[in-house]
Amino acid sequence: MTSPSARLRSLSGIKPTGQPHWGNYFGMIRPALQLAHDHDAMYFIADYHALTAVRDPKALAEDSRGIAATMLACGLDPVQTIVWRQSDVPEVLELTWLLSCATSLGLLDRAHSVKDARAKGKELNHGVYTYPVLMAADILLYDTDVVPVGKDQKQHLEMARDMATFVNVAWFGHQAGGTVDDSAPWDGKSLKRPRAIVQDNVAVVPGLDGQKMSKSYGNYIAVFASPKELKQRVMAIQTDSTPLEEPKNPDTCNVFALYKLLATADQVQDLRAKYLGGNFGYGHAKLALLAVAEAHFAPMRQRYAELMAKPNDLDAILADGAVRARAIAKPVVARLRQAIGLPAHPHL
Ligand code: ADP
Ligand code: TRP
Repeated sequence: MTSPSARLRSLSGIKPTGQPHWGNYFGMIRPALQLAHDHDAMYFIADYHALTAVRDPKALAEDSRGIAATMLACGLDPVQTIVWRQSDVPEVLELTWLLSCATSLGLLDRAHSVKDARAKGKELNHGVYTYPVLMAADILLYDTDVVPVGKDQKQHLEMARDMATFVNVAWFGHQAGGTVDDSAPWDGKSLKRPRAIVQDNVAVVPGLDGQKMSKSYGNYIAVFASPKELKQRVMAIQTDSTPLEEPKNPDTCNVFALYKLLATADQVQDLRAKYLGGNFGYGHAKLALLAVAEAHFAPMRQRYAELMAKPNDLDAILADGAVRARAIAKPVVARLRQAIGLPAHPHL
């Protein structure tokens, strides 16, 4: 039942929510692509998850393709990495139900996502409430070893591990109570308990105003911004009022913080010296940032436009990913059905 290769299987889901920005790129997309070098990586577009809030069918379809095109444009290799739409693997809903029957409401009540929806007066439909169960199903359906997540998703991952334990106790004869020994080898039958790879070494990318870059603050630079838009956004980055001739502190400057993400070590040293040397204005620094940003993102922007112009090709890549993902998912569900006492299903 283990993967034929010795590499660990990593899996992560990405919610389709509009245009990605530099925060998403440096905070999530780039680390995810790096992980694919030494893991059997699987990425899916979490369209079922988006449905807790999205009511516009066109936006759902467009944004789902948009995320797929983004990952591909940024370098995801769809042969090496499995990429698919969550809703193309219906087994995930079956597993959601099986997990639901072993999960207490007390656990779900503690989820940050539910607390957040309550605190902010957001719609609290059953999908929001059961979001952590669907997320656990996403992960457990593929005998996942590791899940790269941001800090905000750490609790959901812990809950997925708890749900795996509940199922294993209920149906696989595992011992209830006490701590689970994660160093013990997996038995190849029960649900595999995944480990989180929490990306807390990834710096928070500042937005134009110095706060965390975020869609909701409107302070972002889109990954695929046109050259004109890019220039406009870079020129709008807030800086202090140190006069042109005076030395400037690179370490408190938003322009420099963004430059460091894109430039080589030598380029960063060079710009640092210019800041400290005086007679170098923020306008000059912004032009330097613009140059490295344009060099980095222009090929991706072009590739993204090409991919989005061919929705059928994108759909074919996702359909191929779904076939490969299902081939992993089906035996997992078959295994569970057998343990639970459900009849074998001809589709599995
Ligand atoms: P937003 O705040 O724009 O709504 P999301 O919460 O949808 O962004 O984030 C999606 C992913 O991008 C998460 O993995 C998150 O950690 C990462 N991310 C978002 N903004 C930043 C940022 N400013 N710096 C680093 N990572 C970020
Ligand atoms: N909940 C994650 C988010 O909001 C997306 C997601 C859904 C996910 N299923 C997942 C992430 C499984 C990792 C593993 O960003």
